[in-house]
Amino acid sequence: MCGIVGYVGKKNVAEILTGGLSALEYRGYDSSGVAVLADGKTKIYKAEGKLQNLKDLLKEKQDEIITAQVGIGHIRWATHGIPNEVNAHPHTCNCGKLAVVHNGIIENYKELREQLEAKGCVFKSQTDTETVAHLVAQKYGETQDLKEAVRLATSELEGAYALCIIHQDVENTIVATKRNAPLLIGVGEGENFAASDVPAIIEHTKRAIYLNDNQIAVLKPNSIELFDENNNKIEPKVELLPWEPIALSKMGYKHFMLKEIHEQPDVIRNFLSGKLHTANETTKLDEVKLDKNTLKNLNRIQVVACGTSLHAAMVGKYIIEELCEIPVDVEASSEYIYRKTVTDEHTLVIGVSQSGETADTLTAIKQSKARGSHILIITNRPDSAMAREADSLIPVNAGIEVSVAATKSYVAQLMAFYLLAIHLAEIKGSYDNSALTELKNELMLLPQKIELFLTKTDKIQKCSRMYSSSKNFIFIARGINYATALEGALKLKEISYINATGYPAGELKHGPIAMLDETLPVLSIMMKGKVYEKILSNAQESKARNARMIALTDSTDEKLDEIFDYVLNVPSVHELISPIMAIIPLQLLAYYIAEFLGKDVDQPRNLAKSVTVE
Ligand code: F6R
Repeated sequence: MCGIVGYVGKKNVAEILTGGLSALEYRGYDSSGVAVLADGKTKIYKAEGKLQNLKDLLKEKQDEIITAQVGIGHIRWATHGIPNEVNAHPHTCNCGKLAVVHNGIIENYKELREQLEAKGCVFKSQTDTETVAHLVAQKYGETQDLKEAVRLATSELEGAYALCIIHQDVENTIVATKRNAPLLIGVGEGENFAASDVPAIIEHTKRAIYLNDNQIAVLKPNSIELFDENNNKIEPKVELLPWEPIALSKMGYKHFMLKEIHEQPDVIRNFLSGKLHTANETTKLDEVKLDKNTLKNLNRIQVVACGTSLHAAMVGKYIIEELCEIPVDVEASSEYIYRKTVTDEHTLVIGVSQSGETADTLTAIKQSKARGSHILIITNRPDSAMAREADSLIPVNAGIEVSVAATKSYVAQLMAFYLLAIHLAEIKGSYDNSALTELKNELMLLPQKIELFLTKTDKIQKCSRMYSSSKNFIFIARGINYATALEGALKLKEISYINATGYPAGELKHGPIAMLDETLPVLSIMMKGKVYEKILSNAQESKARNARMIALTDSTDEKLDEIFDYVLNVPSVHELISPIMAIIPLQLLAYYIAEFLGKDVDQPRNLAKSVTVE
């Protein structure tokens, strides 16, 4: 959803900006640009496509910008206007002295644009951001004060923004501000930074100020001044960043996605550590800040999330209802926020998000919080906007996930739901004790089983090659693994662009079966347990329509070889935790198909890792 970076200091500005943008590439990668003040002039350089194109351009132009001591950069994920050079940021005003980079969406840009055009502003791009450039430039004309101009201009903006602005007449200064979009200020010595996210600056400083909505920061090489929306000066709170740069290496894997898939056993171990020592002990989940009585009397849980996190929430619903007998509703945040939802102080609202920045989920939890609900956030980013709204925070500690397609953060979210459900069941006494012990034991055995499985992926690779030319794919499952079917299909479409759909297997005969023929692969997720036989008979229905048959199973039944063209075996696991085991081969299947097709696995087209616009 676009990444922005700003630098003021004596180092090579172009290198720092492009280095920062590289670390933000996960946020968007359809075009990029920088603006610097060099030799008393604002100079803007932009390139369509991958960041490398901008890096090449800046290398060519290095003589023009070598003296710069301030600059701002942007990597774009297009919302308004196609991804081309004209629409790439930074944007400027009529005189070309001011430059702005923006993450977010200005909702009232059309009205503002009309007003500005009537006053003589000439627009070059189709973006909402260019409105900000003209508006701030106008206010600057009236006030001759860049910070005041930004304050006045942003008071007229509706929507979401993180902005960094420089002006030719204001030497070595960046003005930065935000509303409903992430922005942090990196504190250096004789230099300062602004960025959408930690990885962009972590190489240079571990000290940062997280801006609150409507605050304005004025950055110079040796000072950072912070103001609230009424222009009162405030004392910045400098925090220590918890990140290590090493996390960004591929460690010998061809893609980050493959590395992150292989990290999953450790992610599970990491999550369990400190929370579950032995299966006979009760779980320790101090992160949940509701007292025991309130927890016991909870009569409803609502979970809001998007995409992969929504699938984790669906598994969460199943497991909480099974273990705790509390009704759980799961809803896509984007739907939740535009209807009348019934929540109150007796409802626990859980927001799930690997990035902690997803605009729809953030809005959903803010709405529920305003109605008095306790907000529990499950996220991989304890420093995110959602984490800051949380009454209870479960950080999943999966480590930074670079690949845009979520893998290890999904498994970590599932772990959070398992432990939460077990913890609630222990408090409520709602599930048989020995059954809970068995479940905890199985969770502790999972990392080894996944490790073992990951040593033998030849069959998945072969199967991936076999089906890589398919135009469509169907995943079927039942019960707790319905979400696995949706997630498997999502992974495949995201990175290979093959049209893949997940269905509850029982629904096949209510319509989708019409599509089946000898060209269509149907992958049946058949983990042993309550619905194994049911799904086997649904798979037979597909076989009878000549579909290409793949099974994913922990059963060793030899009969399956007669029904299926491919049987992908995984180690046997407890039915209730089978979604964790079952998703691993599906992540690999998607990965190997995409890799075989030569797709850009870590940065699939049109996607971004952090969706900070509605
Ligand atoms: C898919 C994926 C997305 C995200 C979705 C929500 O691989 O990563 O579907 O799950 O955009 O993002 P978060 O979890 O950051 O709220």
